[in-house]
Amino acid sequence: MSGPREPIGVIGTGYVGLVTAAGFADLGSEVYCVDIDESKIERLRRGEVPIYEPGLAEVIARNSARMHFSTSLTDALAGSRLLFVSVGTPPTYAGDADLSAVLAVVDAMPASSDHALVMKSTVPCGTGRSIARMLDEQGKGALAYVSCPEFLKEGTALEDFTRPDRVVVGEDGAGWAGDAVCALYEPLGAPLLRTDVASAEMIKLASNAFLATKISFINEIANVCEETGANVLEVARGVGLDQRIGPRFLSAGIGYGGSCFTKDVSALKLLAANSGYHFQLLGAVIEVNELQKRRVVSKLTRRLESLAGRRIGLLGLAFKPNTDDMRGASSLVLAARLEAEGALVRAYDPVATDEARKIMPELDYAERVEDVIEDADAIVLVTEWPEFLTLDWHAVAAAMKGDVVIDGRNALDPVAVAAAGLEYEGIGIG
Ligand code: UGA
Repeated sequence: MSGPREPIGVIGTGYVGLVTAAGFADLGSEVYCVDIDESKIERLRRGEVPIYEPGLAEVIARNSARMHFSTSLTDALAGSRLLFVSVGTPPTYAGDADLSAVLAVVDAMPASSDHALVMKSTVPCGTGRSIARMLDEQGKGALAYVSCPEFLKEGTALEDFTRPDRVVVGEDGAGWAGDAVCALYEPLGAPLLRTDVASAEMIKLASNAFLATKISFINEIANVCEETGANVLEVARGVGLDQRIGPRFLSAGIGYGGSCFTKDVSALKLLAANSGYHFQLLGAVIEVNELQKRRVVSKLTRRLESLAGRRIGLLGLAFKPNTDDMRGASSLVLAARLEAEGALVRAYDPVATDEARKIMPELDYAERVEDVIEDADAIVLVTEWPEFLTLDWHAVAAAMKGDVVIDGRNALDPVAVAAAGLEYEGIGIG
């Protein structure tokens, strides 16, 4: 590699911030991480990683000499020109994105023509323009601004950082900052797309909305498959082989979860509404997803008649495997609905139990998967963690009181489950 790598600052040490920081440190940059959460910064200084993301602890450990953690912007401003902003933009009560953390960063920036804000946080289209206006009003118009949306997925975040499908760099007018961001990403060899700021912001929202649409679409196809005797796995395979459609994000199940799809689809719908446009399609995507989260309840009711007093074991709680993230998880709706029907719900997740407890403190949590199976009338695969896919189904059948296995992710082997004398039911499988 020629010459030293550009040092960077990263403001906000959540999933996106830490992965960005670790990824660029691994490529050779000095990285100055800043967060207002003192306890988080303390833990990071001690070498602890506050989130569960495969491989992240190792990458941070091997780059510890290049990674600096602070609650103040001072070192980041002194040591770097590019300040990647990766603070949270959670939904407000009105459903659009809460930009208060982003705006606090803007307020804290000095009037400097030597620095740039590089926006990684997902923000509504138009935010960059508002921030530019704010900076002008505060006499800080010389500060550069780049939109560089993040497309990584939790659970495979480091891999997604290293091998992105594309890198989008949005800038209004040609400045030094866009070039510097492109140079940082250059070693990854990914297609680089340079746009204006508003288009970069919209690419991020539209990508998530499209992926969510694909999932709601295949979930509705799955529901029709159940009525017509078709198998959604075969259908998705056949549809996905059309290169115009592609095979990914066509797995039917109990609905998408996570903070991003839930938040961004709603934020885009409201962004459109606030600008006077009624985005009809996204309304349906959201509604289909909400109904899909409840679909397992009707399947169980059909098989067990009443759910009152029935023991239901939930295998998994996280919104997907390889994460402890419970935000927007379908398990939250499912557990609440089952309990409302009077079911005795017990749940096990290999990683997300602590996070789940914060949101559902009253739920009955098991320490081992065996404890949710024992005496259960029915078990439901909620999150397709690898350890659930290799269960000994004869042992499961012997331990359960009933015989119902609902596969909310179409991830189990129906033949193996049925061979153990259990009643298997997936989503959209005939
Ligand atoms: C999503 C996007 O995939 C990333 O590109 C984006 O950067 C990220 O949001 C973000 O905006 O930060 P993530 O939420 O980590 O990533 O997880 P996904 O792998 O996209 O899964 C989301 C949900 O959809 C999960 O609950 C998953 O189980 C579900 N899903 C996914 C399906 O039900 N079917 C599928 O075929 C694929």
